[in-house]
Amino acid sequence: MKARGEKIVCLTAYDFSFARALEQAGIDVMLVGDSLGMVIQGRSTTLPVTMDETIYHCRCVAAGRERTLLMADMPFMSHISAEDALRNAGRLMKEGGAQIVKLEGGREQASVVARLAGAGIPVCAHLGLRPQSVHKLGGYRVQGREPDAAESMLRDARALQEAGADLLLLECVPAALAARVTKEVDVPVIGIGAGADCDGQILVLQDMLGLTPGRTPRFTRNFMVGAGSIQQALAAYASAVRDGSFPAHEHAF
Ligand code: KIV
Repeated sequence: MKARGEKIVCLTAYDFSFARALEQAGIDVMLVGDSLGMVIQGRSTTLPVTMDETIYHCRCVAAGRERTLLMADMPFMSHISAEDALRNAGRLMKEGGAQIVKLEGGREQASVVARLAGAGIPVCAHLGLRPQSVHKLGGYRVQGREPDAAESMLRDARALQEAGADLLLLECVPAALAARVTKEVDVPVIGIGAGADCDGQILVLQDMLGLTPGRTPRFTRNFMVGAGSIQQALAAYASAVRDGSFPAHEHAF
């Protein structure tokens, strides 16, 4: 799809019913994200989410999946060593039905990615704002604004691709930097708050359905506005990503 210039449409999903709805809307990738800690469990961060909880939600989503690629997040602390990562990614695939795993981290995770890739496990590396590192980062902030940080992210992207990552995900990254990363790597780059030039987009389902209480992040859009049903909102999101109208300038940094 990257080679053909076709945008990749991704959304999070946590259960059977929504997996069916996403499938019907023609979403390309569904992610059982550790955002489940916040939007399903009502916690204030993603950190408490466990392997067993992720596997449970993965199984629920897998039951509603047909052609959509099923990606699962590796929870906080589940991929510190390559051996831990291998065991846990294996569980997500064998017990949860995941087809690709996502892990947060830069080039310090290259050996972990290489170990997973070597075992035949497809990997998405998550760069930019990494919610599992929220306490280290000092909050949910845009990453890569300074020239040094931008260069470092480019090095991360290259190193992770070299290590065998099949996909990159950029969260809350200035649009110009995300465009550079997307151009420099061969693997597809999925953005969230990373501008329109990424190869694909992802949002948290509850955010784009207007279900998130309080202030939503600037990069999201409530697709229920103007839609008559959830199914129409999902279809509107898919076509807005594919025709390039989402994300618009006001959703980018
Ligand atoms: O956990 C999640 O839902 C994610 C998305 C924000 C990309 O990682």
